Amino acid sequence: MDQPSTTQKPDPDLITTPRDKKEEESVHRALEGYYRVGKPPWDTGVTPPELVALVEGHGALPPGRALELGCGTGTNATYLARHGWDVTAVDLIDSAVDQARQKTEAASVAVRLLHGDATRLDELDVPGPFDLFFDLSCYCGIPLHRRDAYATGLTHRAAPGARLLMFGYGPEPLGNPTTELTSWAAGVTADELRARFPGWALLDVTPGTNSVPTFWFTLRRDA
Ligand SMILES: C[S@@+](CC[C@H](N)C(=O)[O-])C[C@H]1O[C@@H](n2cnc3c(N)ncnc32)[C@H](O)[C@@H]1O
Repeated sequence: MDQPSTTQKPDPDLITTPRDKKEEESVHRALEGYYRVGKPPWDTGVTPPELVALVEGHGALPPGRALELGCGTGTNATYLARHGWDVTAVDLIDSAVDQARQKTEAASVAVRLLHGDATRLDELDVPGPFDLFFDLSCYCGIPLHRRDAYATGLTHRAAPGARLLMFGYGPEPLGNPTTELTSWAAGVTADELRARFPGWALLDVTPGTNSVPTFWFTLRRDA
């Protein structure tokens, strides 16, 4: 029988520790809590100008296939579909996906909405390839041990030259040294994205306008 290759990376799902699992459950509970009490604080219902610029601005991308990671109640998936994109959108929380479905139906746009984990895209029917990935503050809250899987999932589904537009909190606002479960609140930095997305170029890092450090990152998959 062939020996397994020693260079092959182990499947992160097979090496998840009890602590990792506990951390994922804690994130899930926290997110569910936000949607249970009504409108979560991030749900402005307004598409950010950074996405509008990419879709409608000078040198806008031509419509193609888009995948939104952490779509929440579907504001931006609806926006993209209205602008001619073929949109798939994923969220970990089922009530968010339900609300997104209502929003897209009310807007009479077709969006493929999926309840699932952006770090486990192989478990969902999202073969791609995609021309645009959009992530508004999903990745920066993902536990550190799932981030390589997120990057690999996107890389496998990226068309040559695909863009990833990501908004994220820097490490400072989210880190809470008093809690035991801190890595899911690690935030995101340009250096981390450069390291975790080989085969992509980090084209731009623009600070957000929030009162705490936030960033808009634009990455492009190599052609
Ligand atoms: C800050 S919210 C933004 C939601 C939406 N993009 C918006 O602009 O209103 C981040 C979203 O990511 C989702 N999320 C977090 N981790 C996720 C994961 N691993 N897979 C899919 N969705 C996730 C959360 O449930 C939440 O809806």
